[in-house]
Amino acid sequence: MSEHTDEITRALVQAADAARYAPSIHNTQPWRWVVRAGRLELFGVVERQLREQDPSGRMLLLSCGTALHHAQVALSAEGWRHEVRRPAGEPLATVRPIEREAVHPEATRHFQMLQVRRTDRRTVTDDQIPEETLRHLIKATEEGGAWLHVLRRDQVIELAAAVDQSQQAQDTDERISQERAEWVGGDRPEGTGIPASALPEEVPLTTVAERDFQSRGTLPAGAGHDQAATYAVLYGTGDDAVDWLRGGEALSRLWLAATEQAVSLLPLSGPVEIPSTRQTLRGMLAGTGYPFLAVRLGTLDPAHSAPPKTPRLPAGQVIEVHSEAGRIAHGGAEDAETGEAKP
Ligand SMILES: Cc1cc2nc3c(=O)[nH]c(=O)nc-3n(C[C@H](O)[C@H](O)[C@H](O)COP(=O)(O)O)c2cc1C
Repeated sequence: MSEHTDEITRALVQAADAARYAPSIHNTQPWRWVVRAGRLELFGVVERQLREQDPSGRMLLLSCGTALHHAQVALSAEGWRHEVRRPAGEPLATVRPIEREAVHPEATRHFQMLQVRRTDRRTVTDDQIPEETLRHLIKATEEGGAWLHVLRRDQVIELAAAVDQSQQAQDTDERISQERAEWVGGDRPEGTGIPASALPEEVPLTTVAERDFQSRGTLPAGAGHDQAATYAVLYGTGDDAVDWLRGGEALSRLWLAATEQAVSLLPLSGPVEIPSTRQTLRGMLAGTGYPFLAVRLGTLDPAHSAPPKTPRLPAGQVIEVHSEAGRIAHGGAEDAETGEAKP
């Protein structure tokens, strides 16, 4: 391998490694990366798809989209200008570094946020998000390739009803409940799923309910309400696989921007997973688009420290490196003990 090829392979492995931090539905991490011929290829992994809760694979695609955006952030932070293609089949996407350029300070900041970002299911404070911050988040979402529709008060009430309805539909479906129990609760030593430490002790009493994972957590949720929270629907203009992938990229872009602004973001995807409530959310967009998921945005209590990290699969399980000679290695710079990425 030439030095240049070596350098590109190293950058791609690092990018795939950093993408392990990406958020995913129930922390399923339903992605796999192949580094081959100077490109990074992204594949969905059906073994880690929620077959009962997400038979259409929409949540899998959103999750793979967040990983795709994370990989791009890592490449930009290393100064690699790159090109992304989204065949949205096999592979879902490819990323090809083109040339090195000066690192933009924004790229460095985004990369830092990627390691700090968490799903925080504790209650938010009574401070509303400043208008200017909200405008900044809307712009970030659009830069990420999707749209953010901020809900009016009457629509928040409508969202609350849709969330309750979808929660009930999933709770009464035995197969979905069984599947959820496989991914949620306990210590999760196998590197996937949501540990008890990331779930509230009690699901907080809020206008729009958080997802009830039907599993008691250990996270003190706080006594706050969600009166000052902002609810919004992330949406796009199409309903094809490529649109959902882009939706995931935009979710990641929005989430990193929110993290940078000390805004907590909680995804509420339940109502999108059920066809009837997905239709309700679509109605809120007045026919202008397809909802990817709802989000709660709020101001964090500065006295709270970050919730604990959720586990990740070791790099060797999600990254394959195919060398020019056809040799396959399993790559990554992870800490062997914790499985934590070391980008
Ligand atoms: C597409 C998608 C949908 C999600 N839906 C929900 C949800 O409805 N409720 C919730 O509490 N968390 C939701 N999450 C957050 C995941 O559970 C979380 O990202 C995962 O457990 C990893 O934890 P982390 O975000 O703290 O790294 C969602 C995440 C993604 C990417």
